[in-house]
Amino acid sequence: MESSTKSQITVEKSKTSKIDQVDFDNLAFGSVFSDHMLVCDYKNGAWETPKVVPYGPLTLDPSSKIFHYGQSIFEGMKAYKDTEEKVWLFRPLDNHKRLNISAKRMAIPEIPENFFMEGLKTLLKVDENWIPTKDGSSLYIRPFIFASGQGFHASPANEYKFMICLAPSGSYFSGKVKVLIEETYSRSANGGVGFAKAGGNYAGQFYPTQLAVEKGYNQVIWTDDNTHEYIEEAGAMNIFVRINDTLITGPTSDRILDGITRKSIIQIAEDENIKVEVRKITVKEVVEAAKNGSLKEMFGAGTAAVISPISTFGHKNTDYDLPELTDKSYSSTLKKRITDIQYNRAEDKFGWRHEA
Ligand code: PLP
Ligand code: COI
Repeated sequence: MESSTKSQITVEKSKTSKIDQVDFDNLAFGSVFSDHMLVCDYKNGAWETPKVVPYGPLTLDPSSKIFHYGQSIFEGMKAYKDTEEKVWLFRPLDNHKRLNISAKRMAIPEIPENFFMEGLKTLLKVDENWIPTKDGSSLYIRPFIFASGQGFHASPANEYKFMICLAPSGSYFSGKVKVLIEETYSRSANGGVGFAKAGGNYAGQFYPTQLAVEKGYNQVIWTDDNTHEYIEEAGAMNIFVRINDTLITGPTSDRILDGITRKSIIQIAEDENIKVEVRKITVKEVVEAAKNGSLKEMFGAGTAAVISPISTFGHKNTDYDLPELTDKSYSSTLKKRITDIQYNRAEDKFGWRHEA
């Protein structure tokens, strides 16, 4: 294996590449992985210099705390290639900041910005050819940290791994998006970890989501744990509703993930002179708006989901269909605006694009 060093980050190149086995025209989401990955160990109270190594399995002690106490957090980002083959990231420092917010809540040591950014850029350079160029595709980036330290004592581990893996990906949803407004289970609670991108938040959603999938829905829309009267967010995205000409999204809280797409959409919508309200949304008002025809659109927003219009929502055994979308729909306008910035097809007046 050939080795080189870039700003202390070592690169161990894979002897062979899997790239020829990948059908870049028909990519699913997050199911094939590039040739390399970033690994950075936390030992003896400090993060060691990250390394880029060939993608492959890890060896962990069975007593590693990740397996027993779920000390794990992650991020979701994308790299985009423009028509001149330049590679772009979208607000990557916000992902770094959020990873450390999650780290703090889960008693995981924070990762320094230079290890995150330099590590990511070095990895992207090595696997640059893995960034898809087909419209709607991108390279999904998954930074994560987990407790590799050992022992059954229920306390924070003394060793961790920060890693980044890359997955060339197409759309997150393959067809229409039907969601079920949840009335029994909860994703998070006041004072809990809902605002963190903690692995356990997702594990806890799988069973209620399976029940919804059995009824023909793709995702659950979570409501507040106390009354189930307020719409919070969906399994992998924040939620926006358009009632008449007002775009509404719930405020973030310690129960809701502070989505980077969500906050970007709010800014773009305001720039488009769309009236935006960030306030609590009741399930009742959404059901009433669906009944009286003032509910024009509902969509999810997230890195993986981009902007995913919802075609139907279910509530108390009734399905409510949303109107067909047009070119003038807010979701179409906002999706075009944000993806044009991400893929370097338009001016970036907010300064969100970051060259990789
Ligand atoms: N909410 C949840 C639960 C998510 O998993 C995600 C995805 O990251 C989002 C919201 C959207 O966040 P972002 O736009 O930062 O990807
Ligand atoms: C993302 O949009 O990046 C996410 O983290 C969602 C994920 C659960 C697929």
